Amino acid sequence: MNVQDFQKKKHDAVPISMVTCYDSWSAALIAETEIDCVLVGDSLAMVMYGHDSTLPVSVQTMAAHTAAVRRGMPEKFIIGDLPFLSYRKGVEVAMSNVGKLMSAGANAVKLEGAAGNLELVHHIVESGVPVMGHLGLTPQSVHQLGGFKVQGRGEQAADKLKKQALELERAGCFALVLEAVPAEVAADVTQALGIPTIGIGAGPDVDGQVLVLQDLLGVNTSFRPKFVRTWMDGSTLIRDALQAYHRDVTSGQFPNGQESYR
Ligand code: KIV
Repeated sequence: MNVQDFQKKKHDAVPISMVTCYDSWSAALIAETEIDCVLVGDSLAMVMYGHDSTLPVSVQTMAAHTAAVRRGMPEKFIIGDLPFLSYRKGVEVAMSNVGKLMSAGANAVKLEGAAGNLELVHHIVESGVPVMGHLGLTPQSVHQLGGFKVQGRGEQAADKLKKQALELERAGCFALVLEAVPAEVAADVTQALGIPTIGIGAGPDVDGQVLVLQDLLGVNTSFRPKFVRTWMDGSTLIRDALQAYHRDVTSGQFPNGQESYR
């Protein structure tokens, strides 16, 4: 997968599959699948570090996780997420942070929102770095939005979302994440754009889907929003395996002769 393939898939109406990934061992598993691309999302602040928002994660942490994912998957297309405020302190700081994610192994970067970002998107793209946009529920603006809420409801909000999507396309984004927007709004934006939309909680009429890996594997029991489907009951499987390990250790059944050196 490369940037041109995103365009081609939209053109050919072939849905794009994207998943988040934060570490090397899950990257190595994803590398063995046909999943198109991977996002090292700043959601790792919540999923991996237990924060209640994405705000506390630094560029250094994002770069370290991007490098770990790249070591696990040498070939796949990786998008590195620019974290909170890392692209809002002037072009020089933003470009230095873009450089950190790209040096760590990303093929592209993602940033949230359109307002105040259009010139920067243009500059990053002109510098040779593909940019993925992100509209709708933009978690870095959780305080401004008043919580993790569906966005783009009502005619005015839907029109604003579409206008911003078109602006990001014009600025040079190669794809756009639409998060937590009504399916009809996402469909309308998708139709209006030449670049592919990747939905999360945005219904079926987009050009691709993204989910957080831990959500689709069912290991995150505390977070089950309406839009998440689980393809495995990961929390039960992992808990049962750990309990069985404990049982075998404490009952003296592990290790046995074959599991011991002579
Ligand atoms: O950080 C993230 O995981 C994301 C996805 C939810 C799109 O931005």
